[in-house]
Amino acid sequence: MSKITDSNYRVGDLMKIYENRWKYLFFTLMNTIIFLSGNVLNKKLNGYKVYPSDISFSLVFGVLYGLILAHLIISFFDQQKETEELDFEVQASLHQLEAFNEELLAQNDELESFAHIISNKEKELREIINLSPIHIYLKDLEGKYLLCNKAHAEFIGEPIQGIEGKSQGEFSVFEKGKIDDYQLVDEKIISGNETNEYIEKINNGEIDQYFKINKIPVELTHHSKEILVVAQEITDLVNMQNEIDLKNKKLLEDNEELIRLNNETNRLANDFEKIIRLITGVIDDVSDEEYLKNIFALTLNLMSRSKKGIIYLFDQGIFKLVQAEGVHKSVADAYLKSYAPDLSVGKNEVRYIENKGSEAFNKFLCIGFYYGEKQIGGMSLESTLESKIFTEEDIRLFKSIGILVNNYYMNRKILEVQQTIQNSIIISLVKMLELFDEYTKGHSESVADLSMKLASEMGVKDTSAAYWAGMVHDIGKILVDRKILNKKGGLTFEEYENIKMHPYWGYQVLNRSEELKDIAKYVLYHHERYDGMGYPEGLVGEEIPLISQIITVVDSFHTMRSRRAYKEPMTIKETIHELKDQKGRQFSPMVVDVFINKILVQEEILEINEIQ
Ligand SMILES: [Fe+2]
Repeated sequence: MSKITDSNYRVGDLMKIYENRWKYLFFTLMNTIIFLSGNVLNKKLNGYKVYPSDISFSLVFGVLYGLILAHLIISFFDQQKETEELDFEVQASLHQLEAFNEELLAQNDELESFAHIISNKEKELREIINLSPIHIYLKDLEGKYLLCNKAHAEFIGEPIQGIEGKSQGEFSVFEKGKIDDYQLVDEKIISGNETNEYIEKINNGEIDQYFKINKIPVELTHHSKEILVVAQEITDLVNMQNEIDLKNKKLLEDNEELIRLNNETNRLANDFEKIIRLITGVIDDVSDEEYLKNIFALTLNLMSRSKKGIIYLFDQGIFKLVQAEGVHKSVADAYLKSYAPDLSVGKNEVRYIENKGSEAFNKFLCIGFYYGEKQIGGMSLESTLESKIFTEEDIRLFKSIGILVNNYYMNRKILEVQQTIQNSIIISLVKMLELFDEYTKGHSESVADLSMKLASEMGVKDTSAAYWAGMVHDIGKILVDRKILNKKGGLTFEEYENIKMHPYWGYQVLNRSEELKDIAKYVLYHHERYDGMGYPEGLVGEEIPLISQIITVVDSFHTMRSRRAYKEPMTIKETIHELKDQKGRQFSPMVVDVFINKILVQEEILEINEIQ
């Protein structure tokens, strides 16, 4: 409390007097009257003379004593009042204190029961935490355990009570060298106030254990920073992951091996397919040169030791280059010119020639190609590997390729002979037919010739099939009664039905031969009509094979233009008119158009201005 100054006191005193002015006045007045009356009356009664000084004296003392008395009385009452007020305040404070005390007591009770609850809850919490297989513990910044659960205690190998209060460094389960690292991590977490998660490997002397550790900065017990650690053992997971990684790696390796094997298999299959195609000679319509180029590519593919080589044909006494690989054409040509005698290699033999060619081409294997007993070409390969020496396997393989080519030519020769025989048979059959059917004379050759030309014009690949089908289209007539065939008058229904069998019979004759099967089909349908009204099957439009459509047009054209015993030949104009008239009915419109616009013009049967 601050001290009250004198001036304050005086001011306060005056204020007090001012507040009690009426009381002062009253007591002063009363005293003055008492003094005055007492003094004056006493003198009067005792017979003394009353002097003015007596009245003045009485007035002065009356006022003075009145003031003193008033002050004393007022002070007394004020004191009394202050005491009462103070007493009242003290009483009030006491009440307040009591109430506060009661409140404190109540709060204390509440705190006690709360503490009890907390104590129970902490117990429960500890039990729950202890049930957890996850390690949970609380450390202070010095690394001392403040709390620790059962899982972690078991890991350390001590009871919980023996752990709390001690630092991690005191337990042998932790590697000594790592304790400082833990400390550094903890300090970092506290300073950054951030949770940290990492995986820790702990080796307990026998096995590696892995833990996923979460460190969380907290303030739980001592109002200072602490680290709550939640560590989950993930050893099984890590081991499983390692096992999966290992299997994955193995799978990837296996996969790579499979891809490699697959590529190798594909390459071999590809080569094998090529070999098969080359052996069987089923490369469609390839020329000898194309065939040799295929063989050359295959050889370079199969003989991996060599990337250099040439393949050549013997033509009019000299070797001519077909293809070169890894060697400039001029070097190859010079080689073929200079070393021709060396290239005459025996049938199914391999010759090794050394230091004969140029610098770029001087150690090589040679084979010869034979048509019958005559060498018609060959192939030379140079080893490009450092050893420059071919293995036995290379030589055997190269020899096999030579045999393969020779077989190809042998097959070609056989086919040519077969074709000649086959053609002779067909021509003989046609001649036989001409003996039976006098109207057929020359007709077959003409139909064959025009059919082939028309087929070529229409983009048919196998024009020889069109030729031979045209040649034999009426071969079935051999089986028709000769009298019906050469009958001059009109035919009966039965006779016509008999003649209508000739496409089918022709088909039956030709279909027995493997080589003539396709031709047989064209013959079968040469009397079909584009509108589906023909025979034997009533095929419609493009259902009819194109070669059959062609033969129909050419056959009809030639018949219309031929003289018969029963009819004169139609003029070219009449024939064209008829062909056009039957477009889309008997004939394919497109075949008729090409026949009129191209073939008849080419053959000079028709002038361009006659087409219209
Ligand atoms: Fe016919």
